[in-house]
Amino acid sequence: MNIHEYQSKAVLKSYGVAVPEGLPAFTVEEAVENAKKIGTPVVVVKAQIHAGGRGKAGGVKLAKNLDEVKNYASELLGKTLVTHQTGPEGKKVGRLLVEAGSNIKKEYYLSFVIDRQTARVVMMGSEEGGMEIEKVAAEMPEKIFKEYIDPVIGLAPFQATRMAYNINIPRR
Ligand SMILES: Nc1ncnc2c1ncn2[C@@H]1O[C@H](COP(=O)(O)OP(=O)(O)O)[C@@H](O)[C@H]1O
Ligand SMILES: [Mg+2]
Repeated sequence: MNIHEYQSKAVLKSYGVAVPEGLPAFTVEEAVENAKKIGTPVVVVKAQIHAGGRGKAGGVKLAKNLDEVKNYASELLGKTLVTHQTGPEGKKVGRLLVEAGSNIKKEYYLSFVIDRQTARVVMMGSEEGGMEIEKVAAEMPEKIFKEYIDPVIGLAPFQATRMAYNINIPRR
């Protein structure tokens, strides 16, 4: 199953995870309307495709006013984005996510993926978030931590704590 970022963020939000305010847009006008509704000084216009690596490929734009939102939305809608995950043929952008801009201090990486070898969901995390996670995996695999989740028990609290410790999430 493939879902877009804005759809997955809605799922996370429904479980109480803090996500930035954001609204999907299918047209340039809708993108501008969304930015008005969100109302933060910076909004991010993000191409919604079923692939990562969008930032590096120019699919994520920081807009400081409504004119910039309009220009970026026009540029991205209908464009074929080629990222390191799409293959050379790329993927066509049919929708956008307009999201409140965050003032980023630090980016972490955290994912849950299926590991077919162990037939388990594995939680993977790294302190080296941002846009170079594939490079980290290839060149510094010791910077990526894994917790294999027992399907009967689910994610155990000690595993979440160990992950937080391993990737240096600051203590409250
Ligand atoms: N809401 C946001 N506010 C500020 N910067 C953002 C926001 N969303 C994404 N970015 C920046 O854009 C980069 C790429 O976005 P991301 O969602 O990670 O897409 P991808 O992983 O496909 O490149 C992020 O690493 C971050 O630096
Ligand atoms: Mg990313």
